[in-house]
Amino acid sequence: MSTSSSSAAEIDFKREFLRIFFIIFFVLLICFSIFFVNHHENNKYIIETLELNGSVEEGDALFKINCVGCHGITARGLVGPDLHSITTRLNDKEIIKQVTGGLTPPMPSFEIDPANMSNLLKYLHSLE
Ligand code: HEC
Repeated sequence: MSTSSSSAAEIDFKREFLRIFFIIFFVLLICFSIFFVNHHENNKYIIETLELNGSVEEGDALFKINCVGCHGITARGLVGPDLHSITTRLNDKEIIKQVTGGLTPPMPSFEIDPANMSNLLKYLHSLE
């Protein structure tokens, strides 16, 4: 009798263990999928942007609308740093991350489509 009850407890324990194991497994799986999808989307955006050949004039116009408040009308810097020769310090991928990432407050993250991001990059290259 006592043996059968202890083995029942053992089975319960195993079930509980399996249940928790699967819950953790699925939570990790979901986290990983979200991370993977995000990463993939980011890469797709960067690749699409880098394939385009933007226009300096359009980039200049975009800069005047979105960036001059902090980086100055001639991009010589105000609240944000001087952006002349920025393209010798950061590569295009890093600049895209800087503009779209919102990782360095107070600079906000900008939602820019690849065509306009490419225009902005062209403009920043023209400041060298
Ligand atoms: C609200 C103010 C603000 C606005 C608007 C803003 N920035 Fe910035 N930006 C900053 C600040 C502040 C930094 C410095 C962040 C740091 O490194 O801590 C920065 C950093 C940068 C850098 C990196 C500079 C370096 O030396 O590493 C780039 C490139 C840049 N900004 C581009 C842009 C562009 C392009 C726009 C417009 C689409 C823009 N920023 C709009 C405030 C701003």
